[in-house]
Amino acid sequence: MIFEILTLFPGMFVSPLKESILGKAQERGLIHVRVHNIRDYATDKHQITDDRPFGGGEGMVMKPEPIVSLLDALRTEEPQPWIVLLSPQGRSFQQECAWRWSALPRLALICGRYEGVDERVAEFFSDEQVSLGDYVLTGGELAAMVVVDAVTRLLPGVLGNASSAEVESFAEPVLEFPQYTRPREFRGHPVPEMLLSGDHEAIRRWRRGQALLRTKLRRPDLFARLELTPPDLKLLHQAEEACARGPCSETLGGSRDC
Ligand code: ADE
Repeated sequence: MIFEILTLFPGMFVSPLKESILGKAQERGLIHVRVHNIRDYATDKHQITDDRPFGGGEGMVMKPEPIVSLLDALRTEEPQPWIVLLSPQGRSFQQECAWRWSALPRLALICGRYEGVDERVAEFFSDEQVSLGDYVLTGGELAAMVVVDAVTRLLPGVLGNASSAEVESFAEPVLEFPQYTRPREFRGHPVPEMLLSGDHEAIRRWRRGQALLRTKLRRPDLFARLELTPPDLKLLHQAEEACARGPCSETLGGSRDC
C-alpha cells in the first residue's frame, strides 16, 4: 500500500516511520510512505503557503494552490489515491475507517496547519475529512502518523501473528480486560489471585467480567451499544460486587473508576 503525505514539515515523519513495525513494514515492501513538502509546490518567489483569511480574523489559512498542485502531480500516477484531509472539522477517525482504508492501494493524507486549510480543498479536492478526536493539535502531521500506523497494522503480513488484527474486526465494542505479567507481587501490589489459579474457564469468565465493567465505567457510550446475554450480566454483576468489596486495583488494573 502506498501512503502519500502532504505536509509543510516532512522532517516530523522521519523517526516515527523508521522504527518498529512501520519501519519493518517498509523494509519488507508492505507499505511505501512518500512524504511531500507542500512548500515545493508554491510558485511565488518566497514560496508562500498561507495567507490571511477573507472576512478578517485571527491567524493564517493554508492557500489552496500549492496543495492542489501537489495533488495534481500525484494524480498523474496510477492507481489514483483516495484523498483525506486531516482536520479537527472532520468526522471522527474510527477503527472502521482504518479497515476500509487498509483495502485501498494508495492513500493521500493532507496535513493542515495554522487556522486551517482553505475550505475549497476540503470541499472539492478531498474525498474525506477526518479528525482524530475532540482536541486541537498543532497540525495534521501527528494525526497522519496515527492513520498510517492504524492502517498499516491491518495489512496482511504486517503483524507477526497474522490472526491478531483479523480477530479484532469481529470484536464487539468492549475494552480489553487487564493484563499482568511477572512478578506476582510488585511494590506491594499482587496480581489478582484468579489469574494464578490455572482454571482456564474461571479466568475467561473473570476477564469477561472485568472487560464489561471497564467498558461500563469508562466508556458508557460503547456500553450502551452492547446487547448483554444473561451470562454476561451475571459476570458483570460479579465484577461490580468485587469492585465494591475491594480496592479498585484488584479489579480494574489500578484505575480509580469506582
Ligand atoms: N489537526 C489539528 N487537530 C486535529 C485533529 N484533532 N485531528 C486531525 N487533524 C488535526
